[in-house]
Amino acid sequence: MKSTLKRIGILTGGGDCPGLNAVIRSIAKPAMAQFGCTVIGILDGFEGLVEGRMRELTPRDVGGIVNLGGTILGTSNKGNPFQFPVETPHGVEVLDYSSQAIQNYRDWNLDALIAIGGDGTMHIVDRFTELGLNFIGVPKTIDNDLSATDVTFGYDSAVSVATEAIDRLHTTASAHHRVIVVEVMGRYAGWIALGSGIAGGADMILIPEIPFKWEKVYEHVLLRSKRGNRFSIICVAEGAKPAEGGVVVKEMDKKRTDPVRLGGIGDLVGRKIEEATGLETRVVVLGHVLRGGSPTPYDRILATRYGAMALELAAQGKFGYMVSLRGTEVVAVPVKEAILKLRTVPLDSQYIKSARAVGTVFGD
Ligand code: F6P
Repeated sequence: MKSTLKRIGILTGGGDCPGLNAVIRSIAKPAMAQFGCTVIGILDGFEGLVEGRMRELTPRDVGGIVNLGGTILGTSNKGNPFQFPVETPHGVEVLDYSSQAIQNYRDWNLDALIAIGGDGTMHIVDRFTELGLNFIGVPKTIDNDLSATDVTFGYDSAVSVATEAIDRLHTTASAHHRVIVVEVMGRYAGWIALGSGIAGGADMILIPEIPFKWEKVYEHVLLRSKRGNRFSIICVAEGAKPAEGGVVVKEMDKKRTDPVRLGGIGDLVGRKIEEATGLETRVVVLGHVLRGGSPTPYDRILATRYGAMALELAAQGKFGYMVSLRGTEVVAVPVKEAILKLRTVPLDSQYIKSARAVGTVFGD
């Protein structure tokens, strides 16, 4: 393919997830070998773009990394150039450092920049596109909450880890006749809880899209106990909330692109169940374990397809687009479509219907 692309930048933004290195590899290898491009790795996400921390990648950097978790470039969820957190004598101030980022983009003579990230990253891609920079997005996140794509890579790996954990918790819960509450990540979407809850055969799944009633939760574990099922597994999304009440927030940090850090609903559910039912209850928070380790084969393949397509778009000069999975095909969609709204679980989803069909309850 003929292209004027000479220098291409890659960055990974937001929370890491398995598959980032597979994308980096499938952009950088053909960029170097087929297009004769210089590939610049931007370190630690947009923070590195603002601070000018970048380096040229070599074939050696990007070989043998398809199975490697994390990101060889580093990442950060604190470096939004348009709201850049700066320590001052008066505390943290959030300032617009986008012109600094643009200057670094120009100083490094980038013809295109591929940003791999979630919705925070796609918002930034959109803003730089509007300012005339040549950006392309690749959707990643374990949360699977990006619009305009059927799936983000990272989700399958997270569901696979959570499912294995639920399988293991089943045997110990059953041996001790306990209720075990498993809290999983996912922000304001219930995809991880739903996917792993279905695959792991959880008895109850609590997700943000279906606010739950405490009485229904107690009723179901007591019913199971009376029926002779002397244990219950409850898979709770970190963003799940009771019908009367809000999400449980672990921390607010204005340095982050999204200042709200969720966490703690698992403990609350566990404590309340034990108090209300007298059933012995334990709580397991899977947290960042879901983001660590090797990507599943599915995520490696999807990530490789995404990276290759992103490079093609760069070569065609198709900027302001995000690669996306639609059905079985990887296509390009305007990044604006991806940021319209968070992709939460639709209430008429077949996931929910099929889970209910096998007796899983949602606390509603
Ligand atoms: O977006 C990915 C994610 O893992 C969410 O599921 C979670 O709420 C958040 O990131 C945790 O962020 P941090 O890594 O900053 O604790």
